[in-house]
Amino acid sequence: MKVPLSEQQITVSAAQLREVRDELQRFLLEYRFGMQEIETKISILRDEFLHMHDYNPIEHVSSRVKSPDSLVEKVTRKGLDSDFATIREHITDIAGVRVTCSFTTDAYRLFDLLTQQDDVTVLTVKDYIAHPKENGYKSLHVIVEVPVFLSTGPVRVPVEVQFRTIAMDFWASLEHKIYYKYARQVPEGLLDSLKEAAETASALDERMERLHREIHGDPGSILPHGVIRV
Ligand code: GTP
Ligand code: MG
Repeated sequence: MKVPLSEQQITVSAAQLREVRDELQRFLLEYRFGMQEIETKISILRDEFLHMHDYNPIEHVSSRVKSPDSLVEKVTRKGLDSDFATIREHITDIAGVRVTCSFTTDAYRLFDLLTQQDDVTVLTVKDYIAHPKENGYKSLHVIVEVPVFLSTGPVRVPVEVQFRTIAMDFWASLEHKIYYKYARQVPEGLLDSLKEAAETASALDERMERLHREIHGDPGSILPHGVIRV
């Protein structure tokens, strides 16, 4: 019989417990390295952009490796077996990097520049900017796989990268807080207000980008390495 992870009764010795802890730490370490590879790539793109175009398309970057608690919660929620091979195969957001850009075109441009790199393999793309979620959520999500070179040999690590604008980020963090405050049972009226706020955020994004273009020229016209699109 398959018993949910949270209900399993097991007896383990201190040595076994230490072994599991070490194995989990080692498992999560690979994801930390994968995350660091992506952070470095993003940081190189940012520095090169500043150097070449005197323009920084990134407002901020944040990253995290899923905590063991949140990993166990997701394994349980998805009804997965709790062995590392199954978790590795089915949970692809253990390492996450969020890139907050100035404008929507920057979010797409950074997505292109990252995903076109030879050592980056794209697993899945979810474009919630072109196709916002029902609640109004917008962001461009991609799960990529990057190689990490360990003393035991190379491993390919999946990393979830989210690209969004400051306005999308502002909205998502408020929505996240509300969602948790109401334990996922948000009152209807509040859901409508949130959706309206998402539309206001999108309108602001468009307006700010137009304004930026008026001042600096079309930001979409500068390709990497200073090539000008005609
Ligand atoms: P998870 O099981 O939550 O990882 O969702 P998923 O596997 O269906 O992936 P999806 O790409 O839809 O969402 C992944 C991540 O995007 C989430 O963990 C959040 O960080 C973010 N996200 C997705 N939808 C929402 C949303 O409606 N509101 C907010 N605030 N964040 C969201
Ligand atoms: Mg997730």
